[in-house]
Amino acid sequence: MYTPILDGIDSVGYVDFHVRDFHSYDTERGATYNAYLVRDDKTALIDTVKAPFAEHLLRNVAERIDPAKVDYIVCNHAEPDHAGGLARVMQAMPQAKLVCNRRCRDTLGVYHDVAAWQFEVVRTGDRIRLGRRTLEFVETPMVHWPESMVTYVPEQKLLFSMDAFGQHYATTQRFDDQLALATIVEEAKKYYANIVMPFGKQVQAVLEKVGRLPIGMIAPAHGVIWRTHWQTILDAYAAWAACRPSPKVLVLYDTMWESTAQLAEAIVEGAAQDGVAVLPMHVRRTSLTRIATEALDGAALALGSATLNRGMMPAAAAALNYLEGLRPAGKAAMAFGSYGWGKGAPEAIDRWIDGMPWEKLREPIRCQYRPTPEILDECRAAGRLLADKAQELARQHAG
Ligand code: FEO
Repeated sequence: MYTPILDGIDSVGYVDFHVRDFHSYDTERGATYNAYLVRDDKTALIDTVKAPFAEHLLRNVAERIDPAKVDYIVCNHAEPDHAGGLARVMQAMPQAKLVCNRRCRDTLGVYHDVAAWQFEVVRTGDRIRLGRRTLEFVETPMVHWPESMVTYVPEQKLLFSMDAFGQHYATTQRFDDQLALATIVEEAKKYYANIVMPFGKQVQAVLEKVGRLPIGMIAPAHGVIWRTHWQTILDAYAAWAACRPSPKVLVLYDTMWESTAQLAEAIVEGAAQDGVAVLPMHVRRTSLTRIATEALDGAALALGSATLNRGMMPAAAAALNYLEGLRPAGKAAMAFGSYGWGKGAPEAIDRWIDGMPWEKLREPIRCQYRPTPEILDECRAAGRLLADKAQELARQHAG
C-alpha cells in the first residue's frame, strides 16, 4: 500500500508494527522503513527498506509505476535498515542509476555485490532534474554515519531527511497532524537520544544547512512525516543537539539486598523539591532505551550499585557502558552504593564519572551491609545538592 504525500510523491516503504528490538533499541511502538517515490518525467525512488521487506516496497511501487521504469534510486544512507533491500530492488529496476555520494558508494560496495550497478556519484549542491521537480543533495556526514545525506525537492519545499527527525513509530496514519503531537515528539526524542546523541555538533551543522532551505514538509526515513509541525521538530533538535538540560534529577541504581535501594530512596527524598523532576530508575526494570532518553535532558545524576564481585552489578555496568557511548554532555553526577566485606561498586562508578565530560558533585556515598540513619541523612543532603545543581544548570542553559 502506498500513501500520497504530495502531488506526484508517494510514501512506499514498510510499516513494521511488530518489531520490538531494533539492534537493542526498544521499539515499543514498532518501526517504519520509509521510502518515497517521486514521479515526474523521470521517476526516482528515495531510499529502500530492510532486506526482508523489499518485496513489500516493490509491490507498493508497482501500484504507481512499473518498477522496471524507475530511472533513479537515491541512497541517502547505506545502513541496512534502508539499503538492505537495495540488491533486490536494483534487480527489479535494472535501468535505474544508483545516486549516492562517494562514501556511500564505497560502503555499499562492502555490503553488496555492486559490480553491475550503475552509480551516479553526487556531492553537496549537485542536482538532478526529473522534469518539473529537481532533486538536490546535501551531505550530512555523521548524522549519523559518514556517508549520510539528505535530498531536497525545492519545487515542493520537501526535505527527505533520512534518519534525522525520525521516530520509531508504526502507525497507519503517516502524518504528524493525524496523531498526538506529544507522542510523536516523545518518540523523536527517544530516537535522537539513542541514535543521534553522540553527534550533536554535526546535527547543529545540519540544522544550519536545513535552516537555509525553505521547508514545507520533512519526510524522514522512520516514522511519521512532518507536514504541519516541522518547526516543532527543528526546534526540538536544536535543544537536543545542545544537550540543553531540564531541572531533572535521575537516580539510577541496581540493588542486591535493598541497601542501595534505601540509599536511592533517601537521595530521591532529598532531591524532591519545587521545580525539580526526580526520576528513580532501577536499571534492571528500565530499558537502556528509556535510560538514554531521560539522560538526554536530565541535568544531574546519582548513579548507584551494590557491590558484586568487587565491582558494579551487571545491569549497572551495562547502563553506564551505554551512556558512555552516547556521551550526553554537561551533566553533574555522583556515585553511591553498598558493599559487604570488600569495597568496589561506588568506587568503580566514581572512576567512571571521572572519564565522562561531567562535573563530579561529591565523593561517593557508601554503606557497609545496611545504611545507618546518618548515611541516609547524607543521602538526603546529596539529593538536595543534586536538585540545586539541576536547577542551576537548567537556568544557565535557558539564559
Ligand atoms: Fe535508520 Fe541509520 O538507519
